[in-house]
Amino acid sequence: MSVIAIIPAAGIGQRMGAEVPKQYLTLLGKSILEQSVLALLADTRVQQVFIAVQPDDPYFSAQTNLSNHPQVVRVPGGASRAQSVLHGLAAAQALHGPDTLALVHDAARPGLSKKLLTALLDQAQQVPERGVVAAVPAWDTLKQTNKHGQVQTLDRSLVWHAFTPQIFPLQALLDAMMKAERAGVNVTDEASAMEFMGVSPILLEAEQQLRKITCPDDLIMVEALLKAQPQ
Ligand code: CTP
Ligand code: MG
Repeated sequence: MSVIAIIPAAGIGQRMGAEVPKQYLTLLGKSILEQSVLALLADTRVQQVFIAVQPDDPYFSAQTNLSNHPQVVRVPGGASRAQSVLHGLAAAQALHGPDTLALVHDAARPGLSKKLLTALLDQAQQVPERGVVAAVPAWDTLKQTNKHGQVQTLDRSLVWHAFTPQIFPLQALLDAMMKAERAGVNVTDEASAMEFMGVSPILLEAEQQLRKITCPDDLIMVEALLKAQPQ
């Protein structure tokens, strides 16, 4: 199956609290968004990247070199991450055949290694019907509370942090996200929509450097991890 990518990059970065949306902050000499996009294009199986950007966003053209990239298509971002991904999927569906895999990757995760991307794509091409999600096993003891204030400890050997990339067949993902949204499911990642349809995705262990840049601390951590990589 051929592969296209969707990058939701239409958030405002409220928790980061920077002067520009966090995807436009500089990390190791390039914007975070460019790092994330170029990491995906390192695998030649990724044919095209659909980037969801707010229609009135001035930074995409002014602060990145992505506008004229031959493999990049800009699509309008939505009011939520799920809406931004849906816009990307709809644009991709209009240009690509039914036998296409959609890889969704947050703009705010610049630390995708070529090794992990290759492993994720290999896995997705072997079992496209299940799809694949980059994830990290829980590293802390996790507690669950309820509305009565009761606390329970989860079996952390069963709990994972879901990262991106997440890869599923394009048409199946588009259908699942529309159905899940209509049913009121809180679609915080692509896998949650596929799970709603009864699919059990494969979790492939990711590296810590792929954690999402949400707050200033994450930026410090991811930059340090990437700097520590052997060149
Ligand atoms: N995103 C998007 N469209 C939205 C909201 C978020 O494309 N309406 C994107 C973000 O740009 C980011 C990814 O989804 O790449 C993950 O979202 P998050 O980390 O929550 O980013 P922000 O929404 O920008 O941050 P915050 O929630 O702190 O405002
Ligand atoms: Mg957000």
